[in-house]
Amino acid sequence: GFDVSKLLKQTGTVTFDPGFMNTAATTSAITYIDGDAGILRYRGYPIEQLAKHSSFLETSYLLIYGNLPTPAELEAFDHRIRRHTLLHEDLKGFFGGFPRDAHPMPVLSSAVSALSTFYQDSLDPFDEEQVELSTVRLMAKLPVIAAYAHKKSIGQPMLYPDNSMNLVENFMRLSFGLPAEPYELNPKLVKALDLLLILHADHEQNCSTSTVRLVGSSNANMFASISAGISALFGPLHGGANEAVLNMLRDIQSTGMQPEAFMEKVKNKEDGVKLMGFGHRVYKNYDPRAKIVKATAHEILADLGGNDELLDIAMRLEEKALADDYFIERKLYPNVDFYTGLIYKAMGFPEKMFTVLFAIGRLPGWIAQWREMMQDPQTKIGRPRQLYTGLPERSFPER
Ligand code: ACO
Repeated sequence: GFDVSKLLKQTGTVTFDPGFMNTAATTSAITYIDGDAGILRYRGYPIEQLAKHSSFLETSYLLIYGNLPTPAELEAFDHRIRRHTLLHEDLKGFFGGFPRDAHPMPVLSSAVSALSTFYQDSLDPFDEEQVELSTVRLMAKLPVIAAYAHKKSIGQPMLYPDNSMNLVENFMRLSFGLPAEPYELNPKLVKALDLLLILHADHEQNCSTSTVRLVGSSNANMFASISAGISALFGPLHGGANEAVLNMLRDIQSTGMQPEAFMEKVKNKEDGVKLMGFGHRVYKNYDPRAKIVKATAHEILADLGGNDELLDIAMRLEEKALADDYFIERKLYPNVDFYTGLIYKAMGFPEKMFTVLFAIGRLPGWIAQWREMMQDPQTKIGRPRQLYTGLPERSFPER
């Protein structure tokens, strides 16, 4: 209801691009996506090859430092992370201040923001050593914070990290272990979680990463920038979709609704219902990550005896969608989060933890993008323009 050409006259020449559909805000050498062909590469390596041969730790190193580590470099990185897992005891006290039914995502973003109050010796974005220190601190402490947010929500005691374990093993133990009982790692679950973390590790300028960059462009420290990214990830149109998918499948199951009937609701846009876990701003083809997750979901659920009925509903929804004109015309395919929730659930994580798991996976991507931006001489403070549609000047009433 407004005349864009008139608005442009007032503002001068600007690009009007809501949702940044067609605006590149930066150059980046980290992740390549071809959305039409369904291709994803980190630092040049296809996601399928990383999923098969790499580990989350190695992939994190690749994203952050640009190349695969030598065995000695990987060991040193692993060692440094293990040495930084402890949380300051006063920071642990924060968890007691949140209500028991708090969602762990805002707990995570609050605690990450609070890291900048406890670790003031690594806040300078232009000091190489300090950037390195906050990188390692975040990699080491975020999984610990995530596990504590989970323990808090289920009322169980928080364990100290066991540094004989690597990042993913430690996270599993901190999430599911109990003080009086030895915790036995299930190698299949550790491997599956490691794989899911690799698949989430970066995705170029998505909403949370763009947020990390925008906040960082004011020269805010890494903890503050990544805390903002976690808040962006929380939304159901972004990382929150994995939780929303499971809730959707559960609703279909509990109401006994046929997937076909649900699809009609989606297509008629009844109450704004969407097929959660479908569609993507960039992929107009099958999300390559979703292919890998789907295969893993079958394996894990067969192994652990997860909820087959929910997997069946998901597969029926997918089958219907891929053959339906509504989805074909709009090029809507499953995204990474369509099947992840089923795996997380089978591992024993409650729905509220799903997006937290995404955050642990995305962390190396956020760090890599923040560091790339800080080193880029082209970086300027992020400050979009607007087209003003409010009232013209008016006089304050005389009193
Ligand atoms: N279910 C039904 N219809 C959909 C869906 C969906 N999941 N996604 C898009 N559409 C429709 C839209 O209604 C729109 O239809 P229209 O042309 O008739 O208006 C058309 O497809 C284009 O969709 P947009 O919303 O314009 O696409 P956009 O690129 O802005 O949004 C998004 C992408 C947010 C991912 C969207 O597809 C969505 O909401 N999906 C569901 C939530 C989800 O799974 N998010 C996770 C994304 S991946 C990630 O962050 C890990």
